[in-house]
Amino acid sequence: MSTSVKAKDLITTQEWSREELDRTLELALELKEKRRKRIPHKLLEGRTLFMLFYNLSLRTRNSFEAGIFQLGGQGIFLSPTAVYRPALAGSEIPYETERVSDVARVLSRYGDAIAIRIYGKPVNWTYGMGDQIVREFAKYADIPVINMECDMFHPCQGLADVLTIKEKLGTLEGKKIVVSWAYSGGIKPLAVPQSCILNFTRFGGDVTLAHPKGLELDPTVVSWARKNAEESGGSFEINYDMNQAFEGADVVYPKSWAPLQFMPPKTCKMEEEKALELMNRHKDWITTAEKIDLCKRNVLYMHCLPADRGMEVTDEVIDGPNSVVMDEAENRLHVQKSIMVLLMRRD
Ligand code: CP
Repeated sequence: MSTSVKAKDLITTQEWSREELDRTLELALELKEKRRKRIPHKLLEGRTLFMLFYNLSLRTRNSFEAGIFQLGGQGIFLSPTAVYRPALAGSEIPYETERVSDVARVLSRYGDAIAIRIYGKPVNWTYGMGDQIVREFAKYADIPVINMECDMFHPCQGLADVLTIKEKLGTLEGKKIVVSWAYSGGIKPLAVPQSCILNFTRFGGDVTLAHPKGLELDPTVVSWARKNAEESGGSFEINYDMNQAFEGADVVYPKSWAPLQFMPPKTCKMEEEKALELMNRHKDWITTAEKIDLCKRNVLYMHCLPADRGMEVTDEVIDGPNSVVMDEAENRLHVQKSIMVLLMRRD
């Protein structure tokens, strides 16, 4: 069976065919089984993955590093602000002293893929700039570029979540899947909920997006989700009431994000106070046992982690019998190993 896909890069799953996504999930399950049985699977022996992190990470960094090692390759961690501009560490704009075009072409001479995480403060919270920088790397790199989360998309998380639902429920088709905003005291990107609505509609789910007014996702991404639902035979709707949205759900994925209306380019700079003022009006958007009781009995509670306990969700729910958050975190490893094999092997 083929171990490669047509696509050169993974920036958003929206740019991969359904066949490529199915192949990714199928191979992820094969690799998961091999790891479970301790069968060696060094499909990327001698290959190198460069990982550029402009933001912190627990899951993404460690699952990519462990994954490339299990595949027989090597992962190299690069923290661009700290490595290249120690005097300015923490103050933004990638590769001020080197152009992205040069960095991408140099790394292409040394290794086999470049993975990048960039959103939020490193791009002054300018929505879309992280995505543009990942695309700039992809334009100049001769080797695959993998998006480890930009400000628009988190494709590896989205695919790990689809795999988790398929494992637990068999299919997304005919399942009511609620992707909901949740309260948090901090500013968080839109990449996860946007990847969730794109992927869950792609795989035929009946997707409800729930959020208070003023916390709309990117309208272009929402239009893609509607189109995906039409093409897959699923459905897509928006609800402004968390309780109503949860009624009869098979899956709930409540997660905080910041209001786009207070982010550049809609504003000159990130208007954090206004964003928090709006979010603070909706502290009741927390997932509690009472809200879980509105769903189907065996509803799956999902979250990409890290979760803000006591704000987004109660301990009782996230540590309770409906929670699959650790399975999601584990599936990041298997899905990313699959993505790396498909992009880096090129048989
Ligand atoms: N879910 C996720 O991407 O986690 P990290 O931020 O820890 O990588």
